[in-house]
Amino acid sequence: MPTRDFTISQVDWEQCKSLLRAIRESVFIVEQGVPKALEWDDEDASALHVLATDSDGNGIGTGRITQVGQIGRMAVVAEWRNLGVGSALLTQLLRTAHADGRNPLFLNAQKAAIAFYLRHGFHCVGEEFMEAGIVHQRMEQDPRRSRA
Ligand SMILES: CC(C)(COP(=O)(O)OP(=O)(O)OC[C@H]1O[C@@H](n2cnc3c(N)ncnc32)[C@H](O)[C@@H]1OP(=O)(O)O)[C@@H](O)C(=O)NCCC(=O)NCCS
Repeated sequence: MPTRDFTISQVDWEQCKSLLRAIRESVFIVEQGVPKALEWDDEDASALHVLATDSDGNGIGTGRITQVGQIGRMAVVAEWRNLGVGSALLTQLLRTAHADGRNPLFLNAQKAAIAFYLRHGFHCVGEEFMEAGIVHQRMEQDPRRSRA
């Protein structure tokens, strides 16, 4: 039985970009069919990034916060889902953002992931919209959680 231990770290984009890009490529571009031109943008160089690795150091998940406080690119490779990796990544991102003064926080959730973000103190704002061919919903952090 393989171990299910994993580690979450805040990482530098330049140092870890091949690992981070590989996770996002497999989840968003290959699995979800997001066009490459939409996946890669200029925000990565200045965003805060987190990386989840397994006990052998393989990249299994990632997420980022941009300079304006937008959480995004939350991705866990398929074989590691529903084991708490996504929650651990988001918890670390929220801690880092608060320490860095990046408040208030918001995100555009894929419709299927709304419940995941509700559990982390976000609420829905406005109407659903389409992005990269997927239904999305803007969500913002509850003010009382943004001071945590
Ligand atoms: C969203 C994501 C990062 C969550 O990672 P994870 O490691 O599975 O998260 P956790 O194990 O901490 O939490 C899993 C919970 O979120 C729910 N969930 C999150 N995203 C979901 C999705 N896209 N579809 C269905 N359920 C989802 C699971 O059902 C589960 O709920 P439960 O605890 O009530 O059973 C992961 O599902 C993923 O990479 N999805 C593909 C990419 C994606 O949709 N990213 C989000 C863009 S907004």
